[in-house]
Amino acid sequence: GIIILDFGSQYNQLIGRRIREMEVYSEILPFNTPLSEILEKKPRGIILSGGPSSVNAENAHLVEKEIYEQGIPVLGICYGMQLTAHLLGGKVAKGEKGEYGKAHLEIVKENDLLKGVYQNSIVWMSHFDEVSQLPAGFELNAKSGVIASISNPEKKIYGVQFHPEVSHSEEGGKMIENFVFEICKADKNWKLTNYIEKTVAEIKEKVGDNKVILGLSGGVDSSVAAVLIHKAIGDQLNCIFVDTGLLRKDEDKKVMENYGKHFHMNIKLVEASERFLSKLAGVGDPEQKRKIIGNEFVHVFDEESKKIEGAKFLAQGTIYPDVIESQSVKGPSAVIKSHHNVGGLPEEMEFELLEPLRELFKDEVRKVGEELGIPHELVYRHPFPGPGLGIRVLGEVDAEKVRILQEADDIFIEELYKNDLYEKVSQAFVVLLPVKSVGVMGDERTYEYTAVVRSANTIDFMTATWSRLPYEFLDTVSSRIINEVRGINRVAYDISSKPPATIEWE
Ligand code: XMP
Repeated sequence: GIIILDFGSQYNQLIGRRIREMEVYSEILPFNTPLSEILEKKPRGIILSGGPSSVNAENAHLVEKEIYEQGIPVLGICYGMQLTAHLLGGKVAKGEKGEYGKAHLEIVKENDLLKGVYQNSIVWMSHFDEVSQLPAGFELNAKSGVIASISNPEKKIYGVQFHPEVSHSEEGGKMIENFVFEICKADKNWKLTNYIEKTVAEIKEKVGDNKVILGLSGGVDSSVAAVLIHKAIGDQLNCIFVDTGLLRKDEDKKVMENYGKHFHMNIKLVEASERFLSKLAGVGDPEQKRKIIGNEFVHVFDEESKKIEGAKFLAQGTIYPDVIESQSVKGPSAVIKSHHNVGGLPEEMEFELLEPLRELFKDEVRKVGEELGIPHELVYRHPFPGPGLGIRVLGEVDAEKVRILQEADDIFIEELYKNDLYEKVSQAFVVLLPVKSVGVMGDERTYEYTAVVRSANTIDFMTATWSRLPYEFLDTVSSRIINEVRGINRVAYDISSKPPATIEWE
């Protein structure tokens, strides 16, 4: 496959996904992975990713120079190209103003990488530094105002200053394809049907006749993991579904219906609403609420799993981006919100882990899910945060507020489906503000809560824009919520981007 060395660009996962879409295996490793370890994997090609730093900085992120001497093709993207130039004797200068956004690619000398790429295609730039002098043995292949693409064809070393992996680079896909197939001669050996077969066999082998526990949340990852494991070992899989009282409307019924009845999975529904709500009573601080919900979940899950005698494995829906995130060398970034996944591993538990989706990107998890027969609608659900409605009822949480929010949220989501908008947005929900305002209904004065409708579009959930939903649609949602949900007399639409806002309100 192709190894991608991670220098911290926000687009790295995109490179990996693009290659896998071509049915070629790709793996993302930290930039400082020892060369020997990289070579053990027998890569057909290596990609050096973009990254936020400068090769001229004091503690610049480097690679072992010998990486260029292995006869393995190397493609440097953005920082990766600058690093290549820097390490092989060229020069990298601070640009005058940096370059962000679209540029036109003028090809001055075609090579294998640019084969079939048309002149003046748009490419996506995002850099400050630029290559100012080519290393010996390198030729200039394309310009865009700056040096945009270079290569040493003899040694099969290539560099591009722009980001071919983002969709704004019109011919980017073509270039990655050229690198993967023309230059690296990689095999198409990554097929999700094979993945299912292979993983089912591995699970059988690993689990034997032991029992497996899995915390089902109704979310995509845990559900696909559950169905995959169930396919392998049937009733040896014991799912625990905790109703925290902070779930979406009728979520418990839906999960039992979809996975219990339809897939005949062995699921224990644990009704714990009161425990959660009583622990939350009187607590308004978002971080404290998160902690309480997380801790309580661990307690409930712990108690329940102890009831399942002889369980040896704990299954989790960990996916590849989680793995990349945890191995990343970016260092601990400032804690903005302490995220946790309800269903996360309580540390003191003594189980062996079973993580059958560890190698998959989200879109691959979805494909596997559909392949396994999970209905499309379930596989394409929006993400839902572990603390659930506990952080969407702002401030203090109680059963009545949760009920009001569930009703409003359900209307919004229903309308999104009805109007064919659900899959056009990345995450949509309603937030309940602890603010009352005056309204009039019939001839009565009302004094009730305000609901905020929130919908975001994003690729990676790190940055997001608010969804440009049609006014008519918003009007329908607003009227329905105010008319049908007792307790809300005003609806607002959140038009904040992330950053500086976040997707959730707490
Ligand atoms: P923010 O609000 O930080 O959210 O822009 C980004 C994404 O993360 C989800 N989120 C969470 N998920 N536990 C989770 O499992 C959490 O505590 C949590 N907080 C936020 C949020 O729904 C969005 O998809």
